[in-house]
Amino acid sequence: MVQVKQPQTETRPMTEEGDFLPIQGIDHLHFYVGNAKQAMHYWWKGLGFKPVAYSGLETGNREFASYVLESGKIRVVVSAAYGPSHEMAGHHLAHGDGVKVVALQVENVEKAFKETTSRGGQAAWAPREEKDEFGILRTSAIHTYGEVLHVFVDRSEYKGPFAPGYQPHEREANSAGLAAVDHIVGNVQLGKMNHWVNFYHKVMGFRQLQHFDDQDISTEYSALMSKVMENGNGRIKLPINEPADGKRRSQIEEYLDYYLGPGVQHLALSTGDIIETITQLKENGIEFLRVPDEYYTMLPERVGDIVKEPLDKINELGILVDRDDEGYLLQVFSRPIQDRPTSFIEVIQRRGSRGFGKGNFKALFEALEAEQDRRGNL
Ligand code: FE2
Repeated sequence: MVQVKQPQTETRPMTEEGDFLPIQGIDHLHFYVGNAKQAMHYWWKGLGFKPVAYSGLETGNREFASYVLESGKIRVVVSAAYGPSHEMAGHHLAHGDGVKVVALQVENVEKAFKETTSRGGQAAWAPREEKDEFGILRTSAIHTYGEVLHVFVDRSEYKGPFAPGYQPHEREANSAGLAAVDHIVGNVQLGKMNHWVNFYHKVMGFRQLQHFDDQDISTEYSALMSKVMENGNGRIKLPINEPADGKRRSQIEEYLDYYLGPGVQHLALSTGDIIETITQLKENGIEFLRVPDEYYTMLPERVGDIVKEPLDKINELGILVDRDDEGYLLQVFSRPIQDRPTSFIEVIQRRGSRGFGKGNFKALFEALEAEQDRRGNL
């Protein structure tokens, strides 16, 4: 078992006046899937998450089956409907497996709802309380890109394993050391990036941290534009991608075509020891992208003098390295985690750098295009 080491996180004080939507962290990510039991198994045995709660027929839930799993501070929920008329079934029919909810911990769900909806956020549900023997769970929710919701969660008076309707369902797990959500990336349609950047700025009080354009991120075929949005205290980073014109179908277009619209592209999960984490995930059968070997020939020259991890191990595991003025980061990208070429996972370890691996984009996109080509989608 890999020990979970929480990577260093810094929170920055709000520089602009007042943060009208203070967010304490990502509460959970909720995937709607076709088969919750099997998805649970993937997160459990594949990614080393610990099952902690369950809702389904045995707990009196006749609508859907749902499992909650945790690794470090990361909480993931996978749910599937028992019948075709449930909302989850329709979502799955259209999108395949995908993220429906990016839930955010707040102190006051009423205030979060008022602040965001008064600035133009579209309500999904007004503040509500759910109760059971474990206490009171308070939530409210607004819509973001595609069919994704931001649910605001206050669990200060709730002591249960997840939410009313769920029962504890603990199983032993072999942790891979995944510790926290580093960032969550959304893909939106061509021409819509700035709309959603403005949404996060105006409705949720986020600011733009970084900007990548097709000069930074383009290969012969693929290009994308990306803007990184960050909340007031710097805990939440939500980059937004849109496709840019390329010769052939870009990876973002492939996503939009298969997801049938905008949605969550990848979850970046941090670890305090990427060598141990990736070693274990590979043993568990998780598949990662591999860039051409030439990348590793050039690596010592690019980053060799500052990287503490052994370069031969980095090469063997297919880990990517990028450096900037503040330090460096190590990252790896999984293959899609469901049948459709849509969502995937990034594992990241930061050593000072607050970037997103810009120096790796070209090598990475070439690797992605090779995969797209194999799928007949280039
Ligand atoms: Fe990322």
